[in-house]
Amino acid sequence: MTQAHTARPIVLSGAQPTGQLTIGNYYGALRNWVAMQQDYDCLFCIVDLHALTVRQDPKQLRQWILDLAALYLACGIDPDRSIVFVQSHVPAHGELAWLLSTFTQIGELERMTQFKDKSLRHKHNINAGLFTYPVLMAADILLYGTHKVPVGEDQKQHLELTRDIALRVNNLYGPVFQVPEPLIAAEGARVKDLQDPTKKMSKTAEAELARVMILDDPRDILKKFKKAVTDSRAEIRFDEEQQPGVTNLLDLWCAATGRGREAALGHFSHHQYGKLKVETAEAVIANLEPVQARFRELSADRAALERILAAGAIRARQRAETTMKTVLETLGLPLDPGRFHG
Ligand code: TYM
Repeated sequence: MTQAHTARPIVLSGAQPTGQLTIGNYYGALRNWVAMQQDYDCLFCIVDLHALTVRQDPKQLRQWILDLAALYLACGIDPDRSIVFVQSHVPAHGELAWLLSTFTQIGELERMTQFKDKSLRHKHNINAGLFTYPVLMAADILLYGTHKVPVGEDQKQHLELTRDIALRVNNLYGPVFQVPEPLIAAEGARVKDLQDPTKKMSKTAEAELARVMILDDPRDILKKFKKAVTDSRAEIRFDEEQQPGVTNLLDLWCAATGRGREAALGHFSHHQYGKLKVETAEAVIANLEPVQARFRELSADRAALERILAAGAIRARQRAETTMKTVLETLGLPLDPGRFHG
């Protein structure tokens, strides 16, 4: 099995540099990554190749990549403990994705809900990359012998496909890949759109009131929460079907305060929606303010960020090469002696 040399279990996750991140990204993913650094050997990737499945402005994309690096660090990712890197700095991601695509069925990719959603939103550009996106994601994960992948609920289907691909290869050739498991937080794994709480909160949602960005000004955050869509039942309880807006606010309050559902009900059940909105906003702001302050400091020193990413790329490439050697050998492809010494 690849990567068996490391003592602590391996974690890999990533986010797309396609604009500012939302509190969905924060509670569903980034915040949990930070906590995992304690017990796991972590790699955090900026998945710029994935971002290209939707047309990007090159200059803007480069800026977003560095911004995302600053945001990872501002949230508490420590580049001395974890490997922080850019996906396109490690060519093996694309290489392994090709190999894995030969173990992936078209029917499996057609079932991916993210592909279906995105092809509806980008009707003029349903490119093959959008279709094979989950195979590249499988490569990201399998390249590093990953045990656990902390993600939001929306990525669960991609993780299942990754596991299926890994198992398929292992069944054919023996234990080539570590079969990864998703790690989905109890609270904050499915933060909903504040204007349409039946949908997930997305950084690319058109309506600004629909999404709260990690770097939003606290006054805007409060305003967005105050305008959040609820219902006319005048009752505060968890009921995703009948009261998705209220349930989303309660979930967010739990995620932001670290308190459970019972505490939330005890605190809010005899009150009005206004209190729930304002206190949820306040709890979120309290989490985000220190992140925003660190982001401002870190993003002022672009050269330092570039150095961190360059160092991360070296470490990630080394590990990726170990897996690639095994995979190429397993599939019967001759090893290039110029690439793999010794
Ligand atoms: P991306 O960039 O859309 O989102 C990054 C992370 O944020 C989570 N997330 C949410 N969690 C809760 N509520 C929400 N509303 C919400 N919106 C986003 C996502 O689940 C994700 O964990 N395909 C991935 C990126 C990726 C990746 C990987 C992740 C590429 N390769 C390998 C893990 C491992 C994506 O588009 O995430």
